[in-house]
Amino acid sequence: MKTQRVLEISSKLDLGGIDWDVAANAGLTNEEEFVLTYFTDIEGQTIMYMRDILHTTAVDDPEVIGFLSAWNYEEYFHGEALSKVLEVCGTRLEPNRIAEVRRRATFKEKFLAWLTSKVSRLLNERFVTLYMTWGAVQEFTTHSGYQRIRDTTSNPVLDEICKRIMKQERVHFSWYYNNAKKRLEENPSHRKLVRFMLERFWSPVGAGVKTNEEVARLFSGLFGDDYKDELIEEVDQKIGQLPGMDGIKIMGSWFGANLQPLIAKS
Ligand SMILES: [Fe+2]
Ligand SMILES: [Fe+2]
Repeated sequence: MKTQRVLEISSKLDLGGIDWDVAANAGLTNEEEFVLTYFTDIEGQTIMYMRDILHTTAVDDPEVIGFLSAWNYEEYFHGEALSKVLEVCGTRLEPNRIAEVRRRATFKEKFLAWLTSKVSRLLNERFVTLYMTWGAVQEFTTHSGYQRIRDTTSNPVLDEICKRIMKQERVHFSWYYNNAKKRLEENPSHRKLVRFMLERFWSPVGAGVKTNEEVARLFSGLFGDDYKDELIEEVDQKIGQLPGMDGIKIMGSWFGANLQPLIAKS
């Protein structure tokens, strides 16, 4: 999807016709409460992630500037909508939640953000291609997460809100993916680095501000063993269709190293 098109259709999440009393009556399970808090936190951190991206060479690309503006706006309202679902169902998050969650960012996360800005200058155009491909993976997994919430919830309002959010997440994914594809096609010399960085350094959305235990709980609770493996395969397959990424393994190694020991323990 072209940036101009994203900007044309970009909008605040439409909550027209949402009946909050129905949401409250249906309620949430304890696990849904945990999952929605996780998702609200991650959506809310978009502006912090954007601040980090603004320190990299990705913003030398005018397409990126246009997209980021619309993307950040939309993600903010995803967080707001989820937080409202939590609130009407009895869980009120702190008003300064976004800053609080950011404070929990690990030293590693902050160091990586600093390092990324420096490395981006060295990698230059190759960094932009990496950023696009990385973004495609993150939007894809987020979209799958919302789909799992829809598949498992018995709250009709949560289902409807996730459906509306997913429509925007698809646009985000499509923008990242198509740009990654174009850049990898046009620049064969970028492929090796993108592949190496994803295979070596990828981590799930939220891994920097959530503990490994929280990430493990999210993935094992929301996806379960069967769907988790399905998700890993789907991501590898989708990204594997990009030039130079055939047979790539992105999520599997991260899960094996970081989550498998925790899931086995619990
Ligand atoms: Fe979102
Ligand atoms: Fe998104």
